[in-house]
Amino acid sequence: MNVILGIAFFILGSLAVYIFQRKKYKKMTEEDFVCEVVQKAFIREKFSDHNEHKLVRELLKSDAFVKDLSLTAKFKGMIVGYILFTKVKVGNDTLLTLAPLAVLPRFQKKGIGKSLVEKGHKIAKELGYKGIVVLGHADYYKKFGYEPASKWGIKCPIEVPDENFMAIELYPGALSNVKGTVEYPKEFGIN
Ligand SMILES: CC(C)(COP(=O)(O)OP(=O)(O)OC[C@H]1O[C@@H](n2cnc3c(N)ncnc32)[C@H](O)[C@@H]1OP(=O)(O)O)[C@@H](O)C(=O)NCCC(=O)NCCS
Repeated sequence: MNVILGIAFFILGSLAVYIFQRKKYKKMTEEDFVCEVVQKAFIREKFSDHNEHKLVRELLKSDAFVKDLSLTAKFKGMIVGYILFTKVKVGNDTLLTLAPLAVLPRFQKKGIGKSLVEKGHKIAKELGYKGIVVLGHADYYKKFGYEPASKWGIKCPIEVPDENFMAIELYPGALSNVKGTVEYPKEFGIN
């Protein structure tokens, strides 16, 4: 008798959890899922303030937001990766900054980050942008052609190691006349 009761409670409990989770996920917007992915991706990152998901929420409603450059990667309909490029000023030019790039831990090292970066570059180029700046892992971004931004005289508004502040030209010579300190959208809180 006790065993039957135990099984019945277990089934009812599981059903309740399942219904609760379904309701929760039904109420979540695409933005909520994106922020969850970003938060989980950065959870174990050493050089992170773990607030990247909050930055995304702010950037999505900022003037720097470019709808076509907010990209998700999906697996079986579930968002597993995200990349965002927003507008920054360098002198009179408008470039883009890549931040953040995030892939859920168990989906990392499968080429998802790479496909998001490459897709973003393609769209940015089609939209006519000259180049992109990024503050991040030198070893990772140099795989895509990023080089220290100092090569073009493009500076970061905060002091960072030269190798970590990088830029890429979206067509040959695009950044040759772009010089100065990057003005980040105020949402980054770094100018
Ligand atoms: C960094 C991150 C986005 C990479 O995504 P990913 O889907 O695992 O990357 P990919 O599988 O596309 O890797 C592409 C290449 O980069 C390499 N790579 C992956 N992570 C790397 C890292 N942290 N540093 C250096 N190289 C890395 C891969 O080995 C692969 O190399 P290959 O093309 O020579 O085989 C992911 O690890 C992540 O979300 N990390 C936490 C958040 C973060 O650090 N974001 C970046 C902020 S700068």
